[in-house]
Amino acid sequence: MNYVVLSEEKNEKEHVPIFKKEVFEGLSSNPKRLPSKFFYDDEGSRIFSDITNLEEYYPTKCEYNIFVNHKESIISQIPSNEKLNIIELGAGDGRKTKVLLDELIKSKREFEYIPIDISRYAIEGLLKDLSETFPKLKTYGVVGEYSSGLQWVRDKRPGKNVVLFLGSNLGNFSQEKAVVFLKEIRKSLNRNDFLFIGLDLKKEISVLLKAYNDSKGLTSQFNLNLLERINRELNADFNPEAFQHFGTYNPIKGTMESYLISLKNQKVSFKSDNRVFSFGAFEPIHTEYSWKYSAQESFDLSEQSQFGVVEHFTDSKKYFLNALWKAL
Ligand code: AVI
Repeated sequence: MNYVVLSEEKNEKEHVPIFKKEVFEGLSSNPKRLPSKFFYDDEGSRIFSDITNLEEYYPTKCEYNIFVNHKESIISQIPSNEKLNIIELGAGDGRKTKVLLDELIKSKREFEYIPIDISRYAIEGLLKDLSETFPKLKTYGVVGEYSSGLQWVRDKRPGKNVVLFLGSNLGNFSQEKAVVFLKEIRKSLNRNDFLFIGLDLKKEISVLLKAYNDSKGLTSQFNLNLLERINRELNADFNPEAFQHFGTYNPIKGTMESYLISLKNQKVSFKSDNRVFSFGAFEPIHTEYSWKYSAQESFDLSEQSQFGVVEHFTDSKKYFLNALWKAL
């Protein structure tokens, strides 16, 4: 299998101290918080994948429909006189990407697909799956951080770079971090390269509330799994039944916010570290932001990070936006 390893996911020895430090910092602050990046252990990733199949969780389906309905126009915006590097940040399961790859093959474009992910396991899985679906597809995986992966591509793979950052992942960054992240991508690209980014649009609040408080309770399990992960990895004694998932929309910030609410006065111990944290009845722990954007915010974000908007693609309900930006 073709891939290069630049750096790998932290092993348990390296991960635990970082996880512990951030959990202790978050639980010592007021209001309490836990970073959403820690949702994705094996169990959390499995629950998230189930969430994407829920009827109420619209983003995945809307983005898929945008790809199916607009694949020809998306590709027609990208010049055909140069070899393309189709670079995907985060391996995912390739469901949406396959639609674009299929269209690129049909339109006889010269290209190579280069997924970048910190997990060797995710890269291996995706490359294996793609080689079965498209036996002739040229692929080369990069196991590493996004920015060093992009620099590797720039050094080793001449051609026009088209970076895919799909699925509204930008929405989980704070607004300042989103701009820092986009600037970082821009720095690793050449002028006139492309970024194709998924942004979840602002919409009727009832739709948002249903998507983040689904009737099967998967979003609740996803949020509570963070406490179970802390118990498993940091030897804590959270009782997940004494906390409740709460997903709400903040219309001033324009973001869905997820919380875990303590249902009573309680103490949680981290036995190996001799630390105890107290929770008041109905005290919240903030766990996640999922920012929702307007089309204007796509222009603003692109401008702040030295990109220009080429075109916006949206679904029939206007729930989701895939923006094609060009590096200025
Ligand atoms: C991964 N991320 C874009 C998802 C979102 O919508 O913010 C994670 C998620 N949280 C609750 N449901 C899904």
